[in-house]
Amino acid sequence: MCGIIGYVGAEAAIEHLTEGLERLAYRGYDSAGVAVALDGGDVLTVKAGGRLEALRARLREHPEAAAAHCGIGHTRWATHGRPTERNAHPHTTAHLSLVHNGIIENEAEWRERLAAEGVELCSETDTEVAAWLIDRAYTASGDPIGALLETARLLRGSFAFAVLFHDRPDALYAMRRDSPLLVAHGEGGAWLASDMPALLGHVRRCMRLPEGMVVRLGCDGVSCFGHGGEVAPPPTEEITQTVEQAQRGGYAHFMQKEIGEQPEALRRTVGRYVRDNLPCFPLPDSLFRRRRVRLIACGTAMHAGLLGRRMLERLARLPAEVEIASEFRYRNPILAPDEELCILLSQSGETADTLAALRHVKAFGVPTLAIVNAVGSTIAVEADHVLYTPAGPEIAVASTKAYSVQCAVLLLLALRFALLRGEMGEDEVRAAVAALAEELPTVIEEVLTGEARVAELAREIARAEHLFFIGRGVDADICSEGSLKLKEISYIHSEAYPAGELKHGTLSLVVEGVPVVAVMTEDVLCDKMLSAVREVAARGARVLAVVTAEIASHMAMDGVAVLALPKAERLVLPFAAVVVLQLLAYHAAVVRGCDVDRPRNLAKAVTVE
Ligand code: M6R
Repeated sequence: MCGIIGYVGAEAAIEHLTEGLERLAYRGYDSAGVAVALDGGDVLTVKAGGRLEALRARLREHPEAAAAHCGIGHTRWATHGRPTERNAHPHTTAHLSLVHNGIIENEAEWRERLAAEGVELCSETDTEVAAWLIDRAYTASGDPIGALLETARLLRGSFAFAVLFHDRPDALYAMRRDSPLLVAHGEGGAWLASDMPALLGHVRRCMRLPEGMVVRLGCDGVSCFGHGGEVAPPPTEEITQTVEQAQRGGYAHFMQKEIGEQPEALRRTVGRYVRDNLPCFPLPDSLFRRRRVRLIACGTAMHAGLLGRRMLERLARLPAEVEIASEFRYRNPILAPDEELCILLSQSGETADTLAALRHVKAFGVPTLAIVNAVGSTIAVEADHVLYTPAGPEIAVASTKAYSVQCAVLLLLALRFALLRGEMGEDEVRAAVAALAEELPTVIEEVLTGEARVAELAREIARAEHLFFIGRGVDADICSEGSLKLKEISYIHSEAYPAGELKHGTLSLVVEGVPVVAVMTEDVLCDKMLSAVREVAARGARVLAVVTAEIASHMAMDGVAVLALPKAERLVLPFAAVVVLQLLAYHAAVVRGCDVDRPRNLAKAVTVE
């Protein structure tokens, strides 16, 4: 969602701020702005609705900005008020400029009180309210640190704040709650950012700002303060991401690059959690004695949970359920702290609903395991145990490689449970692990070599206004993901249906020319799926059948285009099918001229509930 960048140092702040905003754009935004301290004591604020190009055009009207050495910048994803210039950050008061990630929950209450005190707010944002509260405390005390700590006490909700006090043009101040902030100091100056890509190439190490601490960044370095005065700064960590990882590297879009990175990502992930051809995790054995599993996540991560549930039940005969994180807490769920294990799945590790669900189950004493891609993220840090998925940074809003590696980790966990529960013998597990370690990446490579054919089929899909994905068993889980992928980037309405459920209502929508993508990797359900395909084809649907090599020969029917998957072990096939669906969505979106990496209204990390 929103992105924060701050810089103070000897170099041109505006260059660092605009580059940082570019690097944070992948998170999703709809307006942007910067504030820089000018030579003469003034602060220049420049904002624009829409893309960063609009902000850059505005900045060209202010050549004086080039001399500034200290400033803050922000990409905003609208929550309070439309994505207009007025609502864009930074928000400015009499004494300061503020950028903010997060949501202030008691904004309405303070808005009223500030109005009663005579403050004229000019935006619809919660951020401006926070800015005036900091201003009020600063006016009273003249102490920037005290003003921030005092304001934190008044606010409910989440925030990462970066502040430029107008009478302190050589320093930035920041603080956070429930929304991450990274701080770094190098030869060129001091940086603060909401996300790692903004720091790449400038510094080798950074620190994650803890909650309850205010940080001051100046040319002389970084100092941290708590209620009792200056405190030791948090430890620094090495930045392992590279600039290349944050670039498209010859691909048309990050999404295409990330789809193509799946063989390597899967190799790394399976390699990390396998020893002597058996699944092996840095987790206590007691976790594997839990009698049921609850998988909690949002969006694509939740779809990985669907596959995980199926594998835990199928292979380990372990009861498992999947929870949509945003619904979970409000159901007042019946938790069994003595029996269950909660697995939280998240690429970013910052998804607000998943984080809230984690805190909820922890409060009830349920052991928690996070499967997370972003190292050091809040969910990873707060869960009792964490398994990282070494997929590398995922930049495209549409999640692809993070999904596949989450599925791989869940499958390995299911195999470990199966072994320990005596549901599978060691040889059987070794064979399954070998399929994941050796066959899986090469099969995905083979699927990727067929991209041109998928692109051709996507032309047909791209013409549709709505369509269906159907499958049974694990293929129904895969279809949920394929459908979400298509919707989010191509804006074609689609629905995923367990094939057998179609005739209980939805078949009425399948008329002449409606595309239906049928996924068939479950050989035991093949006959049933063939019937479903016949039913929709008989009603004029244009079927695209994504099928195993064995089934392909049975698919010769009018109105059915066939895409055969490479020959592979049963456990590997769903991974292959999902890559086809990712490519299908990608190419349909390209044909429709969509902004593939930054689909409208969406953000990479959904940090608000
Ligand atoms: O970072 P997370 O994995 O927690 O994100 C969860 C969802 O917001 C995310 O998977 C979303 O559905 C993707 N845009 C789908 O491609």
